[in-house]
Amino acid sequence: MPTNSIALRLSGMFALVALLVFLLIGWALYWQVSKGLGQLPAAEVDARYSVLQSTLNRYGTQEHWAKITAKLKLLSEDDKRIRFWVVSDSPSYEFGNPPAVIREFANGPLGMRDMNLADNKYPFKVLVSQLPAKDERPPLRFLIGIDTETFRHTQHSLMIALISLAAIGIALASVLGYWVARIGLKPLVSLSLEAQKLAPPRLSGRLQLSPLPPELDQFVTSFNATLDRVEHAYSRLESFNADVAHELRSPLTNLIGQTQVALTRGRSAEHYFEVLQSNLEELERLRLIVNDMLFLASADQGSKATELTSTSMAEEVATTLDYLDFILEDAQVRVEVDGDASVRIEKAHLRRALINLLHNAVQHTAAGEVIRVDIHTEDDHVSIGVANPGAEIPDEHLPMLFERFYRVDASRSNSGANHGLGLAIVKAIALMHGGTVFVRSEHGMNTFGINLPF
Ligand SMILES: Nc1ncnc2c1ncn2[C@@H]1O[C@H](COP(=O)(O)OP(=O)(O)O)[C@@H](O)[C@H]1O
Ligand SMILES: [Mg+2]
Repeated sequence: MPTNSIALRLSGMFALVALLVFLLIGWALYWQVSKGLGQLPAAEVDARYSVLQSTLNRYGTQEHWAKITAKLKLLSEDDKRIRFWVVSDSPSYEFGNPPAVIREFANGPLGMRDMNLADNKYPFKVLVSQLPAKDERPPLRFLIGIDTETFRHTQHSLMIALISLAAIGIALASVLGYWVARIGLKPLVSLSLEAQKLAPPRLSGRLQLSPLPPELDQFVTSFNATLDRVEHAYSRLESFNADVAHELRSPLTNLIGQTQVALTRGRSAEHYFEVLQSNLEELERLRLIVNDMLFLASADQGSKATELTSTSMAEEVATTLDYLDFILEDAQVRVEVDGDASVRIEKAHLRRALINLLHNAVQHTAAGEVIRVDIHTEDDHVSIGVANPGAEIPDEHLPMLFERFYRVDASRSNSGANHGLGLAIVKAIALMHGGTVFVRSEHGMNTFGINLPF
């Protein structure tokens, strides 16, 4: 049975069920009827005997005996299954030319017994009775026998009829079962046809079959929900690929252009030195992009922060600010840190997130302004927010800012270290710690931050 066809399987099961039902009913029927048939011969013999008994016993004369033998002859000609024998000491009071076998049988015990005759396939059911002497007549042994062949035949035909009926029934059950199963499975077939049409890039379609049987309703709902997620991931992947290519193209173009120009004619050693230095900067930028992408890829694959140590957030911010010392000085901005809390974090990761947040803040703060870092505890988490004064970010951008390569101002995109992955990495690091990110833009302050669970 091929495993792929549900209809075939079902029809096989229907056939099995039919087989069981027929076996049970057929056996019960056969047993009941056979029992009835088995009692029939004896009952018939008994009936005959009770009719004849009084006639046999009433008179004992020769004349009367002649009448009786005539009657017995008539009866056995009427019904070929029935045989009569009378055995006695006097040959004139005998009937049916009893051969030696019958004589021997007649002298056996009285009552209903089975007798096998050489020329008969099935035994005779024989009633042996004793009639006492009467007038001139000596005592007699009177035998009525009935051939059981017809009963056996009936039993046999019943068996054959039952078996053929069962065979037909089973065949019908499997054929009709197959047909019924095919009808029942129709919604499934049309559903899979529908689903076949939904291969990429046509992911926008959804399964829409109605009315659906309730068994499939749930399936369609979850299938469509899966499609939603796949479509979302697919479109993100598509735009991500485009963004990556775009981001790598400009450093590569710069590298190639500068190198080509340098090679057009002989140059001084200082010129080559400058070109190489500039190339190194571009290569450094490429390495940063690739590193960030590798980090995001490993976060995507579910890597978690593992080497957790309990750390004071204020200290961690202070260390990061030391690292950004020159940048802060260049931009002429100050940073004020408010509050503190201790959280279990993986230091290297969190440092990276803080650098990205603070670096962004510095880039978006005018000279002479102050950046505020606020660390405080809320219900079940510690919130670390970096706020800088700046133009309000339009609401429609806010939910997108932590997406990869998303920028409010696309023209800034190619400036130095800004390749649009900074906040995506902050978000990945927050998730690795089981935390979340947030952004607010209100009253001239833009706040980006992360919430970390205790
Ligand atoms: N402190 C901030 N103030 C205003 N806008 C910001 C700030 N930080 C980030 N953004 C916006 O979010 C975008 C994404 O930031 P990020 O992921 O760090 O990429 P990048 O800094 O390379 O542009 C930035 O392009 C900018 O538009
Ligand atoms: Mg940035």
